[in-house]
Amino acid sequence: MKRLDVALGQRSYPIVIGRGAIGEAGAVVSRSARRAVVVTNAVVAAHHLPALRASLDAAGLAHDVVLLPDGESHKNWATLHDLLTRLLELKVDRTTPIVALGGGVVGDVAGFAAAIYQRGIPCVQVPTTLLAQVDSSVGGKTAVNHPLGKNMIGAFHQPSAVLVDTACLATLPARELAAGLAEVVKYGAIRDAAFFGWLERSMAALLARDDEALSHAIHESCRIKAEIVAADERETGERALLNFGHTFGHAIETATGYGTWLHGEAVGTGMMLAARLSERVCGLEAGARSRVESLVAAAGLPTVPPKLAPDRWLDLMGRDKKVERGRMRFVLLERVGHAVIRADVDEAALASVLAA
Ligand SMILES: NC(=O)c1ccc[n+]([C@@H]2O[C@H](COP(=O)([O-])OP(=O)(O)OC[C@H]3O[C@@H](n4cnc5c(N)ncnc54)[C@H](O)[C@@H]3O)[C@@H](O)[C@H]2O)c1
Ligand SMILES: [Zn+2]
Repeated sequence: MKRLDVALGQRSYPIVIGRGAIGEAGAVVSRSARRAVVVTNAVVAAHHLPALRASLDAAGLAHDVVLLPDGESHKNWATLHDLLTRLLELKVDRTTPIVALGGGVVGDVAGFAAAIYQRGIPCVQVPTTLLAQVDSSVGGKTAVNHPLGKNMIGAFHQPSAVLVDTACLATLPARELAAGLAEVVKYGAIRDAAFFGWLERSMAALLARDDEALSHAIHESCRIKAEIVAADERETGERALLNFGHTFGHAIETATGYGTWLHGEAVGTGMMLAARLSERVCGLEAGARSRVESLVAAAGLPTVPPKLAPDRWLDLMGRDKKVERGRMRFVLLERVGHAVIRADVDEAALASVLAA
């Protein structure tokens, strides 16, 4: 079992990574509480709830289970409200932690409930998709969607621990695995050329769900995310680097309707477009640009963006919430392993990437 720490002073917390990490839940929760509320959904519960319950039972912890409806379309105010109602009915007090078992949807809703229930209760994240294991469970962003925008209603609330059990990935659909790999590729691209090289050599092992390869990829991804979050918890600067590929990606998601492209799929294609823009505006070498494209393709992610008129792209990207003071900000690569934030991208360069 590997361990990392997210260094945030009093809000610091451990990330435990490895096969069987769910088994740590009982020990983690029993350090500060006598009971827990597990929040999950029926799909995840069928596969992975027994291991979690066994761990809580072994530590002598009473626990209730609340099931949320599955899917991004339920990541909304109504689901949050129902969860808060259940917490009140169960007479959950301020010391009782929520244990969020599931992908990013469960983690974001349960994390947000923990942020606001009685002004805040602890939350232990037990992410079960690769995307949640390398991204959404770490960093404390919690949210639900509003009809007018994704993740528009939320709070920062750091978890008290993150337990990443690689055994959970055995049951994950291949398409979801690939979507998570997009975020893994992102970490290498923005921050760590050696890790990017390792990914190029190890993609086959990752797709074959080799446990050692997955553990290493998750560890390196969480290490990079933890460093960035520790330096800029509330995204006033450096944390925005994590949005590499996301401005184009969000445009793809919005244009095609949420659910048609998975988030990670849109980010994969978005990174290819961002690499092309980087080649035009900040000197990314053609060879480096093609390495990004090849790695996205090797992960089994789509590589052809939907056909949209350049004006439509601009309109969709302009509506992204990462726009500040009317200027579109892009995360671009100067080289593999080094990203920068640029707010001065020339419209003509952008238009030529979109037209191509
Ligand atoms: N908070 C953050 O910082 C952050 C970062 C990135 C993404 N997100 C959010 O995460 C969400 C996407 O998360 P996701 O990609 O995990 O999607 P998801 O939570 O919808 O999970 C995908 C599907 O896989 C199922 N599933 C989960 N674990 C499984 C397993 N081990 N075996 C079989 N099936 C399993 C789920 O029930 C679901 O049907 C989005 O809402 C996004 O906004 C949040
Ligand atoms: Zn993302």
